[in-house]
Amino acid sequence: MDNHIKPKRIAILASGNGTNAQQIAEYFAGRNDVVVDSVIYNKKDAYVATRAKNLGLQSFYMTRRDFMESDKVPALLSERGVDYLILAGFLLLVPENLLRAFPDRIVNIHPALLPKYGGKGMYGHHVHEAVVANHEKETGITIHVVDHRYDCGTTLFQARCVVYPNDSADDVSARIHLLEKDFFPPVIDAYITGRPMPVQQHILL
Ligand code: GAR
Repeated sequence: MDNHIKPKRIAILASGNGTNAQQIAEYFAGRNDVVVDSVIYNKKDAYVATRAKNLGLQSFYMTRRDFMESDKVPALLSERGVDYLILAGFLLLVPENLLRAFPDRIVNIHPALLPKYGGKGMYGHHVHEAVVANHEKETGITIHVVDHRYDCGTTLFQARCVVYPNDSADDVSARIHLLEKDFFPPVIDAYITGRPMPVQQHILL
């Protein structure tokens, strides 16, 4: 690796538990071309803040209002020299000021095969409950570039998994988390560095 190349800095935006945030931080630990700079979270008691602390990562709490009605977040990110935003269970609509500051440099993961089960209110467990209620035979993850709408923007990667007839939403959630663990960090890596994307449409039984 050429040490003269300035590393790309990532900030992770999250609202909840933070398993994806942790996996991303662990994946890039020790890399000198891509660095996880910090975690920004918008729910005061989000467990992701504890994970960030345990990982030795800086974390910043920003309220919904800070995101939606001020320039605090872009100001902080610019001060820290952040290049890319990764949404890992971040439940607010990304405001215009961040879209302008990070054109095509915001990436989200959604726990379904978009355009199915996307949009406002479709997040986390709600998605898996809808998938089970509709007797879907498969579901998966979508990793996409973020635009001004919920769960839209160019798809970078999808991976699929089976939904069995007797699955509960928890069963589906567990399988989805395995896909997220396997694919989200390397897809981020590929998008930022130009490395090859993982093979698409992987089916995990
Ligand atoms: C993940 O499954 C992610 O795909 C989903 O929230 C979960 C967060 O889990 N994101 C959305 O539903 C976005 N619409 P985590 O906090 O343990 O990473």
